[in-house]
Amino acid sequence: MTIEQNDDSEMEVNNNRALITGITGQDGSYLAEYLLSLGYEVHGIIRRASTFNTSRIDHILTDPHTPGTRLFLHYGDLADSEQLSNIIYNVQPQEIYHLAAQSHVRVSFDIPEYTGNISGLATTRILEMLRRSSRTIRFYQASSSELFGSSSPPQNEKTSFRPRSPYACAKAYAFSMTVNYREGYHLFATNGILFNHESPRRGEIFVTRKITQALARILAKKQEKIYLGNLEAKRDWGFAPEYVEAMWKILRNDEPQDFVIGTGQGHTVREFLESAFSYAGLDYEEYLEVDPRYFRPTEVDVVIADCTKARTKFGWNPKIQFDDLIKIMVDADMRASRLRPIGEGDEIIRKKFPDRWWKVD
Ligand code: NAP
Ligand code: GDD
Repeated sequence: MTIEQNDDSEMEVNNNRALITGITGQDGSYLAEYLLSLGYEVHGIIRRASTFNTSRIDHILTDPHTPGTRLFLHYGDLADSEQLSNIIYNVQPQEIYHLAAQSHVRVSFDIPEYTGNISGLATTRILEMLRRSSRTIRFYQASSSELFGSSSPPQNEKTSFRPRSPYACAKAYAFSMTVNYREGYHLFATNGILFNHESPRRGEIFVTRKITQALARILAKKQEKIYLGNLEAKRDWGFAPEYVEAMWKILRNDEPQDFVIGTGQGHTVREFLESAFSYAGLDYEEYLEVDPRYFRPTEVDVVIADCTKARTKFGWNPKIQFDDLIKIMVDADMRASRLRPIGEGDEIIRKKFPDRWWKVD
């Protein structure tokens, strides 16, 4: 484990130094790998836990004493302003990607106050440090298509926010604070309004990964049923590695701006389920049980991105659409269940990303 001391010794000046909050999450792990592949020195904030929580980044961690090490971890928590401030002061990054959050929408209804603190107020903590110390640091806020809530699709940077969960309300506050600090204090503060993006590293309680993992376990005879909630919600699902590349591009603009990032296609949860099971030659209806515990008090019915701005400004054009994404995730989960993958997903990765910078599923 590479945990850096919290002092400011031995920190040389480096023009490509980034700090990532949420480095142990799906996006943080891909982003760290991407920035390392670009030659960055990468610092990540990690929470203390009683179990190891670095499984997504173990393959890029090296001993800090190894010459040439460029990935460093620092203990911290978004609730702890003092430590966030220490880390920013000691690391002196040129770029901050603020990805950490209580990111589960359903769970935010159970813990609304905590979600407001961690997914909302923490952004203000970081922005305040930037205002007081260094206004030249480029700041990326992980905003979400959940902001659009009940606004009609397709949604773009001009669409009204109508948040439908404590998570979305917290993210709406963080979005607005980012814009306010940009306008009021001239910070290079940006929002990436990202639509759902998935991968083999997706948390196991988000619906796509829950489906592909359950399918693999059903094939491996370790599970008999899958229990889901609302099957009719429509999402715009893309492939996470492509989305972290977009985060980096958002910070490359001459002026700080906000961008919508998605695929432009919408599909229901039922379509995802049907397509995943049929890829493996199964009929999902034989395995599905609907469990009301997964329904949400208020639901976002449909989000579909209009990415005209990102396409025009930096050529955003994702290679992976819905069917490819499902095959990639099913193959990976079959491998994780010690089954031989069907193989079409692995082939899509080989063909579409011959020089891929991420090394493991
Ligand atoms: P994720 O897999 O749930 O990762 C969340 C990260 O935040 C983890 O590293 C987690 O640490 C960390 N974290 C949570 N609470 C923390 C705290 N109190 N202090 C410090 N770290 C904390 O989320 P993701 O899918 O990578 O998403 C990244 C960001 O983008 C999130 O802000 C999410 O809301 C936003 N977003 C995601 C999507 C999407 O489709 N994935 C779309 C739009 C926006 P542990 O590993 O210790 O739990
Ligand atoms: N998680 C989950 N579990 N969702 C289910 C289930 C289930 O068993 N059954 C149906 N769903 C439905 C949800 O009601 C929702 O309509 C849809 O599947 C997607 O749910 P999630 O995968 O949990 O994602 P999300 O869209 O709520 O939120 C994700 O994407 C946002 C971007 O729009 C998260 O990553 C957020 O952090 C992110 O901001």
